[in-house]
Amino acid sequence: VSQQNRIHNFSAGPAVLPLSVVEELREALPNLEGTGLGLMEMSHRSKTFEAIVDSAMGRIRRVLSLPDDYEVLLLQGGASMQFCMVAMNLLQGGVADYIDTGAWSKKAAVEAQRFGDARVVWSGADVGYKRVPTNDEWTCSEGAIYTHFTSNNTIYGTQFHKPIQGEHIVCDMSSDIASRRIDGSAYDVIYAGAQKNLGPSGVTVIALSPWAVERSDPNLPSMLRYRLHVEKGSMFNTPNTLGIFFLDRVLAWIESQGMDVVEARNQRKADALYTLLDGSEFWQPIAQRDCRSLMNVSWRIADTALEPVLVQEALAAGFSGIKGHRSVGGIRASIYNACPEESVAALVGFLKEFERTRG
Ligand SMILES: Cc1ncc(COP(=O)(O)O)c(C=O)c1O
Repeated sequence: VSQQNRIHNFSAGPAVLPLSVVEELREALPNLEGTGLGLMEMSHRSKTFEAIVDSAMGRIRRVLSLPDDYEVLLLQGGASMQFCMVAMNLLQGGVADYIDTGAWSKKAAVEAQRFGDARVVWSGADVGYKRVPTNDEWTCSEGAIYTHFTSNNTIYGTQFHKPIQGEHIVCDMSSDIASRRIDGSAYDVIYAGAQKNLGPSGVTVIALSPWAVERSDPNLPSMLRYRLHVEKGSMFNTPNTLGIFFLDRVLAWIESQGMDVVEARNQRKADALYTLLDGSEFWQPIAQRDCRSLMNVSWRIADTALEPVLVQEALAAGFSGIKGHRSVGGIRASIYNACPEESVAALVGFLKEFERTRG
């Protein structure tokens, strides 16, 4: 793999990964750390692999600033499995509040409804999901066990930039985990599929407060019970060994730079795109200004007929993955941690030229 023949990748997920990490994986495939065994060909209970799991979990603790008494799980099933596992373990027929900021949060609420009274306390449907709510726009339900929200809405390109209210907070952090500094203690459950900011699909990161572990329903099937996975150190059954190795290496890449550096770079990348989009009527950003996502920048072209033209010409020019989600249309550039600043600069240049010739 050389940088030269990779094109600019703005995929919403699975998304671009740091090339240095992809190369580390290539080296580990036939022979991991001089063991003579390939990464995918060794026991998950070997000392070598156990050290990788420990390392990945430690890095997640640091990157998310989790308190020492929190637990980290590395499971399979994606964020979608957590839509049900959260409710199965915590809800137990009770009430929970769900903030509907788009397709993914709605799916989370639908799954939770199977296990209790999942109440949508605010919905962005009426405003086309162009913004997320402030705390004064909704109230916690009486007796709500937890409040669920999606920190970054991958499809619409909106993001929460302030903490939300609620006694116990559950957050789907799939599309902005480890992209900015957070206070892990503010959450009781964090979950995220790895395939945007942290690695390949097939491994799901979950952080649980002592309250969440304690509440975990003992009557659930083993594979669905948080507490069991905590007791077994995410090794109740065979984990995704390849995914966990990859996750550990991506986290090492993040830690070697420092969260502040990663966060500042993400801010610069987003600023570069939004500055262009705000610069003329030719472009129409979708998200309301104060709710803009630093990870997924979504916009329309005033003349919507030009959108497919842009997508096609962009691909020909070496920019992949900028077609908006089918439910929203338009254009979307996903610029997760590993999307290089050079890719964003190149895209901005391409968009300027497109505007100059078509505007
Ligand atoms: C915010 C959010 N939540 C959940 C999901 C679903 O994740 P998974 O495919 O890991 O189940 C996605 C996928 O894009 C997402 O962006």
